[in-house]
Amino acid sequence: MPEPIITIRADRARVFDNRHPWVFSGAVHKVSGSPADGDIVALRDEDGKFLARGYWNSHSQINVHVLTWTEDQNIDDNFWRSRLQRAISARAVENAQHERTPNAYRLVNAENDAIPGLVVDRYADYLVIQALTLGIDSRKQQLGKLLMELLEPAGIYERSDVDVRTKEGLTETTGLLAGRKPPPLIEIDENGKLFLVDLYQGHKTGFYLDQRVNRQTLGNWLRFDPLADTRTVLNCFSYSGGFSVYALDGMAQRVVNIDASADALALAKKNIARNGFTVNEEDYVVGDVFEVLRKYRTEGQKFDVVILDPPKFAHNQKQVESAARGYKDINLLAFQLLNPGGVLLTFSCSGLVDSDLFQKIVFGALVDSKRDAQIVMKLTAGPDHPVALTFPEGAYLKGLLCRVW
Ligand SMILES: C[S@@+](CC[C@H](N)C(=O)[O-])C[C@H]1O[C@@H](n2cnc3c(N)ncnc32)[C@H](O)[C@@H]1O
Repeated sequence: MPEPIITIRADRARVFDNRHPWVFSGAVHKVSGSPADGDIVALRDEDGKFLARGYWNSHSQINVHVLTWTEDQNIDDNFWRSRLQRAISARAVENAQHERTPNAYRLVNAENDAIPGLVVDRYADYLVIQALTLGIDSRKQQLGKLLMELLEPAGIYERSDVDVRTKEGLTETTGLLAGRKPPPLIEIDENGKLFLVDLYQGHKTGFYLDQRVNRQTLGNWLRFDPLADTRTVLNCFSYSGGFSVYALDGMAQRVVNIDASADALALAKKNIARNGFTVNEEDYVVGDVFEVLRKYRTEGQKFDVVILDPPKFAHNQKQVESAARGYKDINLLAFQLLNPGGVLLTFSCSGLVDSDLFQKIVFGALVDSKRDAQIVMKLTAGPDHPVALTFPEGAYLKGLLCRVW
């Protein structure tokens, strides 16, 4: 059967020079060869010149996800194996640089590892995958088999319970893909800190792996602070206590955790205890960060370190304005709660709020608080979450470490 061909409109073909992996339906001039959804198609310009090859989905606004820009590259088992191998080798080099090899990290970061739509995270002996597109969903058995061959994990669990799949005409799904079922809680080692992760119900694929380096930055910050044992830390949106374990390991005197999820805080307590620290019930607050911070302000409570790692506030362009108000609100409250000389670690994981806009929002909050602050570090996701230069959308996580006066 000849390869189906998608002819790209003459006025859009130049866009391909930028090698962005998404081809929107508006760029398609003609579809020849009746491809089924998920099939491999070749993209050509109106003169028949080869542009790229990728997988097709007529039900998505992104009609084609590009897999290769090379005409003689076939999309077969060898192609998928070598792309997986490339991502795995890059992580091996990165991991070798650590004093203690982490056993939980992102192995495949979708478009950023030239495998659009596929996320693979490693948690000790298990892998968790997310199929974000139909092209990947229809190949997940094949990809699972290759991952078993390449990495020999105990099992591969699928956590494709993400709403972006609706844009691809898919429903949410979870379940065992290969090997053995993971235990209800799995223990991971991150820079010598131990965390229990729920691969079945935990957020994302179980843990916020993207904050690994930033958690370590906080730990180091406190460890090298001669007054660490007098420092109080407020971990807002704490989830299972990731930043808190590092803060206590860095000798912080007290860490208060706030999260809307009682389950997340129950796990946070287990993680604190697992690392040898005392669990003080009053330091785990189930509630809305916006309300709890207002209450602390009214009560005149002060902290030396405030961490703000909220969930994604902007899911589409229309939500950017209200997201900006949300970020400004919590950052203003954080500035007001910080002691002079204190530290704010503030993040946004909304891809639509870029780092310049985020910095402007934090600046706006600072001005309203009438405090003074310096940016000491700009923070991003760790090196296991690389960003393809052709895919700026990959740089979703941005953060600032500020000293506040
Ligand atoms: C990005 S995660 C934080 C990850 C965490 N920093 C870590 O390193 O594991 C955001 C967390 O915010 C919580 N959350 C969402 N909305 C909230 C709200 N309004 N108030 C408190 N917590 C909220 C979620 O339950 C989730 O655990």
